[in-house]
Amino acid sequence: MMGLMRPALVLFGLSLSLYAQDIVLPDGKAKTLIQNTCTECHGLDMVVSSNMSPDEWKTTLDQMIKRGATLNKDEREVVLEYLTVYFSAEKLNVNTATAEQLKSGLQLTDAEAEAVIAARKSAKIKDLEAFRKVKDVDPKKIEAKKGQLTF
Ligand code: HEC
Repeated sequence: MMGLMRPALVLFGLSLSLYAQDIVLPDGKAKTLIQNTCTECHGLDMVVSSNMSPDEWKTTLDQMIKRGATLNKDEREVVLEYLTVYFSAEKLNVNTATAEQLKSGLQLTDAEAEAVIAARKSAKIKDLEAFRKVKDVDPKKIEAKKGQLTF
């Protein structure tokens, strides 16, 4: 699948392929809006690597709108809520989070959350490197939230 998609995306432009392939946004109402609007001036990496408090997101989002991000009032609300939930300054502890927290915080499937819980039962997941090695968890999901994890 990836092997077939890669050359096609490269044709659309290298920068697009880099951002589109490497960054997975969590599912949510604002996902498409952010993918379309927030990539006009920079990559999604700028968005997913920022973890902020609700107030900081409000300020940042309004700065982006002033700069030219096109969001109407309703869209602004939806985007703000999404950013606040998924890119919050609060960290998720991989070793103590419940299955529900792993699923919502990292967008894991049931099976992936179980894989994490099984892995940490045999040995504490001590850092990002160790987390990346946990079998049966999509590494892109870890990558997308790496700034928000503690161990
Ligand atoms: C019109 C261009 C433009 C659009 C559209 C845009 N941004 Fe930005 N954004 C910028 C620029 C320019 C910077 C770099 C600012 C700097 O260096 O301080 C930036 C930086 C950022 C940063 C990091 C800066 C910080 O204050 O820490 C975040 C987070 C961010 N943008 C989020 C978003 C989000 C979310 C959206 C979509 C709603 C978006 N941007 C859309 C121009 C834009």
